[in-house]
Amino acid sequence: MWTDLKAHYARTSDRKILDLFADDTRFEGFSAALGDFLLDYSKTNIDADTRSALIALAENAGVAARRDAMFAGEKINETEGRAVLHTALRNLSGRTVEVDGQDVMPEVLDTLSRMEAFATAVRDGSYQGQGGKITDVINIGIGGSDLGPAMAYRALSPYGVDGPRCHFVSNVDGADIHDVLVKCDPTTTLVIVASKTFTTIETMTNAETAQKWMAEKVTDTGAQFAALSSAVSKTADWGIAAERVFGFEDWVGGRYSMWGPIGLSVMISIGADNFRAFLEGGEAMDNHFLTADFAENLPVLLALVGIWHNQISGHGTRAVLPYDNRLGRLPAYFQQLEMESNGKSVSMDGKDLTLPAGPVVWGEPGTNGQHAFYQLIHQGTQVVPVEFMVAAKGHEDDLTHHHKLLVANCFAQSEALLRGRSLDECRERMAAKGLTGDELERQARHRVFPGNRPSTTLIYPKLTPYVLGQIIAMYEHRVFVEGTILGINSYDQWGVELGKELALALDPILSGDQDGAGKDGSTLGLVKYVQNA
Ligand code: F6P
Repeated sequence: MWTDLKAHYARTSDRKILDLFADDTRFEGFSAALGDFLLDYSKTNIDADTRSALIALAENAGVAARRDAMFAGEKINETEGRAVLHTALRNLSGRTVEVDGQDVMPEVLDTLSRMEAFATAVRDGSYQGQGGKITDVINIGIGGSDLGPAMAYRALSPYGVDGPRCHFVSNVDGADIHDVLVKCDPTTTLVIVASKTFTTIETMTNAETAQKWMAEKVTDTGAQFAALSSAVSKTADWGIAAERVFGFEDWVGGRYSMWGPIGLSVMISIGADNFRAFLEGGEAMDNHFLTADFAENLPVLLALVGIWHNQISGHGTRAVLPYDNRLGRLPAYFQQLEMESNGKSVSMDGKDLTLPAGPVVWGEPGTNGQHAFYQLIHQGTQVVPVEFMVAAKGHEDDLTHHHKLLVANCFAQSEALLRGRSLDECRERMAAKGLTGDELERQARHRVFPGNRPSTTLIYPKLTPYVLGQIIAMYEHRVFVEGTILGINSYDQWGVELGKELALALDPILSGDQDGAGKDGSTLGLVKYVQNA
């Protein structure tokens, strides 16, 4: 299979992607849609034969069977012995989902309605702080307990104008919480402690700091705290009443958790109905993923494009470039989703992977990136496959000329990457400026765009809660498909453990309570620097 695909690569690598557009059905043939949510992958070097080979790869890897096992609650997270059921959190149909013979849906739906009741009470003022209606919500969490809600809060801000302000504190750097607390009144602030395990040192340290800050002005701090966790028993020490503790099960991975309790801050901001629309978008993508043929299946196609670019074509990075300023935190969210899920070198059966896995994912919203790092994307020596995304319409009805320019820039970038600009054309341009001889040649060469650089474009009508749900669920399933093809368990994250252990061990060394026996010279030198500062 892989050899076959490498042969496809060898056959096509010198080909111009632009030439594929000689067939004027190229766009229709190499784009796929779910309603009006459309993925265009025609500006890649994938042709019909290559696509068939990629689909055969997915079929051969057992993607369909593993997908069905995941949705059915089988313990596909084998290294942790857990089911993988974030999809249950958006299963609004209420279809039975069993883990160990037990339907999990009644509890999921009960927690959802408790969240809705609480979010509504915060928004309408029937739940209050000591000083009155809640003006500010501080979500304290890190990784999956931060990035999802922080990303969605910003993405959906047009829907949150009548909700309280939300702030997201994640870093153990005291600057993070300090800069938020100075903006808030403790008597009208709700603190949400979001941690699947309720042990994460950054989150617990920040939560204690927030509690001390609140205690200076508020008699019963527990009454202005809520907890989101799968370790509900650990939340008891915080004096938080059970009605403000929202639990979830271990079959929801941290980076897949924003659909449930971890999304509470977003629900408080945009309201229960809009949050449901977000879930509905995710659910629609789940149904599509479950039923569409692979040749039309958005998450499968996106995964196959990823495999083509990374494992087959050897491009070890991909840029996610949303032409949607409110998706400014989406690249960071995808970094965790993709790199914590598939950044592995051992396959499910404990053997070394034979192919590279987990491309480096990065990005920034357009058009800002154009004036920063696009230079490398256009003219650098390495090819960076790009994933553009853009809405046909913005929310600012009085600023449609801005949106038109935004869209024009997005399309222009993918066109420039496709088309490039040849040396001959650059020579003509330099000649037209009056340059001749060596100087003409020198200047012309600097202006060449190699082109033939692949990109995909995801286009949707408008960034609504429903559409955001579609986007996130599509990328989640893309990670799953890529992981399955590579034989990876996308749902564990052992690679984060060593740093955590060493940080705990360094704490007493930094404070001088322990010596640094066994530490390397560099680490000891850095410790000494801090101790002497
Ligand atoms: O250290 C990595 C990690 O476990 C992530 O997978 C997770 O999203 C994050 O830490 C936060 O964990 P928790 O929600 O348990 O505080």
